[in-house]
Amino acid sequence: MSKSALRQLPESVDVLIVGAGAAGLMCAATAGKRGRRVLVLDHANRVGKKILMSGGGRCNFTNLYTSPENYYSQNPHFCKSALARYTQWDFIALVEKHSIPYHEKTLGQLFCDNKSKDIVDMLLAECRAAKAQIRTRCGIQSIEPLGTGFLVNTGLGKVVCESLVIATGGLSIPTMGATGFGYDVARQFGLKIVPTRPALVPFTLHRHQLEQQQALPGSALPVIASCGEGSFPEQMLFTHRGLSGPAVLQISSYWREGMSVEFDLVPGRNLGEWISEKRRQNPDSYLHRVLAELWSKKLVQHFLQRQGIDSRPLKQYGETALADIALKLQYWKLVPAGTEGYRTAEVTLGGVDTDGISSRTMECKTQSGLYFIGEVLDVTGWLGGYNFQWAWASGHAAGEVV
Ligand code: FDA
Repeated sequence: MSKSALRQLPESVDVLIVGAGAAGLMCAATAGKRGRRVLVLDHANRVGKKILMSGGGRCNFTNLYTSPENYYSQNPHFCKSALARYTQWDFIALVEKHSIPYHEKTLGQLFCDNKSKDIVDMLLAECRAAKAQIRTRCGIQSIEPLGTGFLVNTGLGKVVCESLVIATGGLSIPTMGATGFGYDVARQFGLKIVPTRPALVPFTLHRHQLEQQQALPGSALPVIASCGEGSFPEQMLFTHRGLSGPAVLQISSYWREGMSVEFDLVPGRNLGEWISEKRRQNPDSYLHRVLAELWSKKLVQHFLQRQGIDSRPLKQYGETALADIALKLQYWKLVPAGTEGYRTAEVTLGGVDTDGISSRTMECKTQSGLYFIGEVLDVTGWLGGYNFQWAWASGHAAGEVV
């Protein structure tokens, strides 16, 4: 056979993984350790970009309290098997094996002490030890199912593989290389897609709402944010576009266009009883001075103005008036204009319908050898390390069988 004919022969591997992100790299290391010949392809110029930018540069890589209740999916049972077989403790053991320093920030969220790059380096070291090959700047042109396995046309030539793993993530942050490729592959093989939408995303406000809070960007306070069935006690942050902070990102996953969101601005307290007590102790105190024990001066001024409340000595308010003021100040209900969309969303809700996927192996039920892992599936975690834990767990589940 001539050299040029040889060059055109497809490269043959056992496992081809598309997407060198969190799930793809975990799957590659797991499968490679079993002796499978693994090739990972990614169209981006470097691997693990979302890991690198995650957790403000320190990667919130898992959560101590991970459980299936921390995930949204049309089938809430789907994530149970993989999460039970590769737990947060397994990932923590891996992090410790690589001597990566980490700490718990809050609510069980584990972050690197140094940089997110520690996690990418760890995954790359695991892939090297497992002899998994990784190539970047390589897109996929087409996928053809064979009797057994697949013929995949890539930017770097044809590849034949027994198992094909789609680990291309969701739609959030397109500038980081996010695409809808995984959904297209799913459709090609007859799988359904649960409608997608940006989640863990800041709210935008209408112009008149923004004008009211002109002085507030940068101000934060603890709240309980509630919408539909969701309720999260966390920090809220005022921004130039609207509202952000962990409480807002969390509740955005429950929000749909036109719904109102309610904020308890004094979580864990009954503001009415608290102000009454203050009046009893010090009837000459002005309302704004008392409220400054709870909020910054700027916030007090804003909340009073927004509700059209004059600050007077507490003794000047009647019992009912004071109760009414307390209610108005404690609970704030608003209908956001929208969200910042995929441009800043941390994750994508919806995705490949899990009805068509085995929860044990992540294999497509109707196309043997085809697997979907990570965020491309209709499994979305809360804020706090849960999304990475899903990527590790689903990547590991597939890596054990591909
Ligand atoms: P991931 O997105 O990691 O990887 C997909 C890979 O596929 C990418 O490398 C991409 O380039 C590649 N790809 C896409 N289309 C392709 C195509 N057509 N051809 C070839 N390659 C293709 N979660 C968490 O638990 N803790 C945290 O701290 C954070 N922080 C955070 C911050 C920000 C700013 C964002 C945007 C997201 C987070 N997340 C997070 C969410 C977390 O990053 C996300 O859920 C996981 O990275 C998902 O892992 P996957 O491997 O599924 O996709």
